[in-house]
Amino acid sequence: MVKIGATTSAAEGFAPEMLAVALFRGERPQDLGEDATRVLTDGDFSGKPNETVLLYGQRGPAPRLLLVGLGEREAASPEKLRRAAATVARRARALELREAALVLPALPAVDARDAARAAAEGVGLGLYRFVKHKSAADGHEVESFWLLVEQGELEEARAGADIGEKVAGGAGLARDLANEPSNVATPEYLAERAREIAGSHGMNLDVLDRAGIEAEGLTGLATVGRSASNEPRFIVLEHRKGNGTAPVVLVGKAVTFDSGGISIKPSAGMEDMKFDMSGGAAVLGAMEAVGAMGLPLDVVALVPATENLPGGDAFKPGDVLEMHSGKTVEIVTTDAEGRLILADALSYARRYEPSAVIDCATLTGACVVALGSHASGLMGNEEDLISEVQAAGEKAGEKAWPLPLFEEYTEQIKGDTADIKNSGGRGGGALTAGAFLKEFAEYPWVHLDVAGTAYGKKGNAYTTRGGTGVPTRLLVEFLIGRTS
Ligand code: BES
Ligand code: MN
Ligand code: ZN
Repeated sequence: MVKIGATTSAAEGFAPEMLAVALFRGERPQDLGEDATRVLTDGDFSGKPNETVLLYGQRGPAPRLLLVGLGEREAASPEKLRRAAATVARRARALELREAALVLPALPAVDARDAARAAAEGVGLGLYRFVKHKSAADGHEVESFWLLVEQGELEEARAGADIGEKVAGGAGLARDLANEPSNVATPEYLAERAREIAGSHGMNLDVLDRAGIEAEGLTGLATVGRSASNEPRFIVLEHRKGNGTAPVVLVGKAVTFDSGGISIKPSAGMEDMKFDMSGGAAVLGAMEAVGAMGLPLDVVALVPATENLPGGDAFKPGDVLEMHSGKTVEIVTTDAEGRLILADALSYARRYEPSAVIDCATLTGACVVALGSHASGLMGNEEDLISEVQAAGEKAGEKAWPLPLFEEYTEQIKGDTADIKNSGGRGGGALTAGAFLKEFAEYPWVHLDVAGTAYGKKGNAYTTRGGTGVPTRLLVEFLIGRTS
C-alpha cells in the first residue's frame, strides 16, 4: 500500500521523482518555470479535467514536472481533486516511479484538511488494482506520495491525508471482497475477513452458522441458503466506542453468488452475480475504516451472507415463509432473494434500538435502469435521514438520489396467500423492493440500492473495471458526520 503524507517544500531531503501541479482551466500561475509557462502560452495544456503534460529537466526539487487539469474554477470540488490526484498517482506508477508529490491546490470553499483528504483518497483509490489471481503481475508500486502544502497548513493537511488514506483503505477492502470470485469469497470467507477487522480494531464479532441462523429464526436467510453447500453465515460486527449511545446499524446484502435459484437467471452475464455481495463488502469496508480511525461512535454491522442456487432442497416460487419478524411472505420469484435476507437482518436490528439503520444492496435491475451507474437509489422512512445520507454521498463523491416509497408501492406487494409477496412485478421494481424492506424497518431507516454503482464494466480516474467500493465512502462520511 502506498504511504500518503503531507510535507512542505522546505522539508529536509524532499526530492520526489515527480512533482505535479494541478491547474484550473485557462489559469497561468507565474512561478512554474520557463517550460511550463511556454506550454501554457502555446495552448498545449488547457486545464481540462485530468488532462496532463509531463516536462523533464526541471530546476527545483524534482526532475519531472506534471501539469494536471482541474477543470473550471467555478466547478471546483473535492471530487475533481480526487480524480486529478488519482491521475497523477497512476502516471507515477506507469513511469515506474517510487515517489511522487502533488502541490495541494487551494479550492474555493474547501479547507486544507478536506482538500488533503480528497487528494489522499484519490491517490489510494487510483492505485488500487486486483491482481492477486494473476500469475505474472507487473509488480511496480508507488511507495510514497506527498501532498505539498504551506507550513501553516501542515497539521491540517496531515490529518486530512491520514483520514483519506484510511477511507481509501476501507474502500479498497470492499473492492477486494467484491472482486473475489464466489469460489473464494464464500459466506465463511466474509466471516473470516470480519474476524480480522474485529481483531485489528478491538470490535466484537458474532458469526451465526446454519444451525445458529435457524435457531435465531432468520427464515429468509436460512431459506435462501438452504440448497447451497457453502453454508450461509450471519455476521454481527460491533464497534463500541460511543459510550453506549444508540448505535447506527449498517446492513449489507452479501449474496456471494446469485444464480436466481429456481427462477434461474439467463446465463449471459451471470458471472457478474459474484458482485451480489457488494453491499456486505461495503459495510465491512466501512467498518475497517471506522476501526482504523477509531471513530468515537457505536456502530453495528449486520451482514447476511449466502449463495442463491437451485437444487433439490431449494426454495420454490409459491412457497410461504414466516420471517424473523413474524410477517409472512409469499415467494413469487426466488430471484428476489436479497430482500428476504435483508428483511431478517432489519428485524434483527430492532434489538439495538438504533438511532439510524442504513442498508445497502445490489437489489434490483430496475434501479440500474432508473439511475444508471452515476447514483445509487436512496429510499427511506424519514425525510431528515434521507437528506443526511444524500449529503454524505455528495461529500464523499458517491452520489445517492431519492426515490419515492408511496403507499401505492406497498399496495403493489400485498400478498394473495401471505401478508406480502417478494415481487411487485416489473413496474417500479426498485420501489416495490424498497417498500418490501420498509415493512421490516421499525426505526429511522434508509435503503441504498447500489446495483448500478457497486461495480462497473469500465473504470474512471480512480476506479477500475469491477468493484468500485460504493457505498463505503458514503457510509464512512455519514458516520463521521454523526461524531460531531
Ligand atoms: N441481484 C439482483 C439484482 C441485480 C440485477 C443486481 C442486476 C445487479 C445487476 C437481485 O437479486 C435480483 O435478481 N433482482 C430481481 C428482482 C425481481 C426478480 C423482482 C431483478 O431486479 O430483476
Ligand atoms: Mn436475485
Ligand atoms: Zn441478488
